[in-house]
Amino acid sequence: MSSGIRKDDERRPMTLTRLSEMHEAGEPIAMITAYDFPSAQVIEEAGADIVLVGDSAANCVLGYDSTVPVGMDEMTMLAKAVRRGLRTPFLVGDLPFGSYEGSNELAIASAQRLVKEAGCDAVKLEGGGTSVERARAIIDAGIPVMGHVGLTPQTATALGGMKAQGRTAQRAIKVAEDAIALDQAGCFSIVIEAVPEAVTEMIVAKLNAPTIGIGAGNATAGQVLVLHDLAGINHGHVAKFVKRYSDVRTEMLRGVEGYISEVRDGAFPAPEHVYSVDPSELEPLRQRLNREDLESHSYFESNASWDWEPLS
Ligand code: KIV
Repeated sequence: MSSGIRKDDERRPMTLTRLSEMHEAGEPIAMITAYDFPSAQVIEEAGADIVLVGDSAANCVLGYDSTVPVGMDEMTMLAKAVRRGLRTPFLVGDLPFGSYEGSNELAIASAQRLVKEAGCDAVKLEGGGTSVERARAIIDAGIPVMGHVGLTPQTATALGGMKAQGRTAQRAIKVAEDAIALDQAGCFSIVIEAVPEAVTEMIVAKLNAPTIGIGAGNATAGQVLVLHDLAGINHGHVAKFVKRYSDVRTEMLRGVEGYISEVRDGAFPAPEHVYSVDPSELEPLRQRLNREDLESHSYFESNASWDWEPLS
């Protein structure tokens, strides 16, 4: 039985054409977030189709309590690291809050940074409204854009918090209108986040672009999860739609605790972690070290001539 994982030698770099072929053929698209080089290498080996350097990096790796504070410099640095670890998946860089809303020029400049400096294949932005115009401008500038509707974490406060969207007819119509507008603007794909499956199904039927769901059920062309959620790298509350496939944090904790404990009880380093030297090399060293001109002095004695400003 096939595991669903494509082996290295079968894999070619993912392209927009291939993504649209997969969509046409009903072949599910697997998208995952990544924020660093070793994770990107794991995702490459596992065979994901799309990798998103999501602004969820803000929470997952930078320690912010929302995605709002993360900036372009941080996103560019993370995306560069991910790029170095990837060969085949299509790489999408998230445009962070404040990097595209102000004007089409700002949006194009930010998108160009993620493509030029970090090597992303495309960018993602959140929401409908003016974001549709920004998406169109970036696409006109030659950069593919992925849209994102439903729960849009950058503007979660305006949406009433980090909760499911489209659960009333009025809110569902808004999600649908945003998705259709982004589709018409030419987005190559649209993320639908935290929307009831029945609503997603109706929206998907109206779109040309493949949709990627996160908490949107099974009707989308693909799925995305945040790496730290699915791998169990972080701890604490996770959204209803998250499935944990491993418990990396517990395994890391086991390793780090083991190391600390062995340093403290002297079990590490053991003989196999220690370099050896031919004993004949030691005698000249011993003699050299025994010479008086090599007497060691403390740091403060050796720097006694420095001018010290007393600390207040
Ligand atoms: O930033 C992110 O990780 C995302 C995904 C949840 C789609 O936008």
